[in-house]
Formats: sequence, C-alpha cells, structure tokens
Amino acid sequence: MLLLNLKTYPESTQGNAKNLLDVVNNVITENPSIKDRIIVLPAATDLFWVKQNYPNLIIAAQHVDNVAAGKSTGGIPAELILSYGIEYSLYNHSEKRVNTDTIVEDIKAIQSKGLKLIICCENSTEAKTIMQAEPFSIAYETPDLIGSGISVTTRPEAVKEFVDSVAGQKNILIGAGVTTGEDVNKSIELGAEGVLVASAFVKAEDPYQKLKELVQPWL
Ligand code: G3P
Repeated sequence: MLLLNLKTYPESTQGNAKNLLDVVNNVITENPSIKDRIIVLPAATDLFWVKQNYPNLIIAAQHVDNVAAGKSTGGIPAELILSYGIEYSLYNHSEKRVNTDTIVEDIKAIQSKGLKLIICCENSTEAKTIMQAEPFSIAYETPDLIGSGISVTTRPEAVKEFVDSVAGQKNILIGAGVTTGEDVNKSIELGAEGVLVASAFVKAEDPYQKLKELVQPWL
C-alpha cells in the first residue's frame, strides 16, 4: 500500500494537483497490478473535482471531523466525503491532531457511518489506545522526520516497537521522510504493509520516475 498524501503544497493543489494525479494515472495504467495499492489524498478543497475526474484512482480525504452534516460550519463530515464516492480518510495526522481524550469514541462514530479510517499515531502507547477502536488501518509517523528526507526506517527500533504493539492489526503503515524505493523496501522488511509519502513525490523533479521507484517493491 502506498499512500500519497498531497497535503496543501502549492505543487500539489488546484491545477498542480492535476499534474501529479495524471502521473499516478499513467503509472497505474502501465502497471494495472498496483491499481489497488495506491491511495491518493488530495487537499480537502480539491476532493470533489479529483474524485469526479479520476474515477480510476482510489482517493482518500486527509482529514474528517466527527460532526454531522448540516450545522457544522467549517467541518468535514463523513457523510460529505462518502457522498463524493470516497471511502477512506486519514485521521489524527500529526499536522491535524484530534482530541486524545475522545479519540476512541470519535473513530468508532466516524467508522460507523461507513468511512474507513487510516489513523496516525506518534508512538506505541497511542497506537494501543487507537487499537481499541478497531480502525481500518493504523499508521506510525515520527513528527520530527516529516518532510525531512530522512526516512522513519532510520529508526528501526521505534518502527519495530510500533509494529509489535499493533500485532494482528491489518493495513499497518509507516511514514515520515520516506524518499526512495529502498526506504519502501526497508519499511516492508520491518513489518509494515505500506508507507505514507508526501514531499518526496510532491516535490520530486520528476514525479513520474519517483513514483515508479516508490512502487517497485509491489511490481
Ligand atoms: O502523511 C505523510 C507524511 O506526513 C509524510 O510526509 O513529506 O515526510 O513524506 P513526508
């Protein structure tokens, strides 16, 4: 599984999102066997048109709120995401942390609406709490390595501790600084099923070549 988090970089929003999405589309067309392994996460403001224009791609939201559609100004209700035909959302990313006191109830409430959540955590203690909510997927990201170009896999002990703490969970992911095909290989070697990648893809000189490199382990 490769999650391409486009965040809100100028290089990955509005018209520029199209360039990157075309790249993903091309790589998938050339390698249909990886179609179900790549999930793209556009900015919230781009979600609707992206889903409309890229029916071949699996799209996820970067965040969802545990609010009901209607009287929730500024919120991103699960109902709205689902109504676009999108089935997945990231949740509790370290750049969009949620209330730790209610996280288990919030995850359960959102998932009960039918949205599949990929929940981020920053350590194994947090991971164990999140596991109580039976998330679709759990992802470990070390905040200080995000956007650094230094892969989370340079801390194998921390990754192993996380992987051990969520034993039995499906769709275990890791992220932060993942940059090369080698980083992806190492992630899998350490027990992850996949990775989250943002800057290495969004800011790549040649996003097409970079994506081909990142998906190599699954080809
Ligand atoms: O969600 C993925 C992300 O936080 C990792 O960012 O730029 O280090 O790949 P980056």
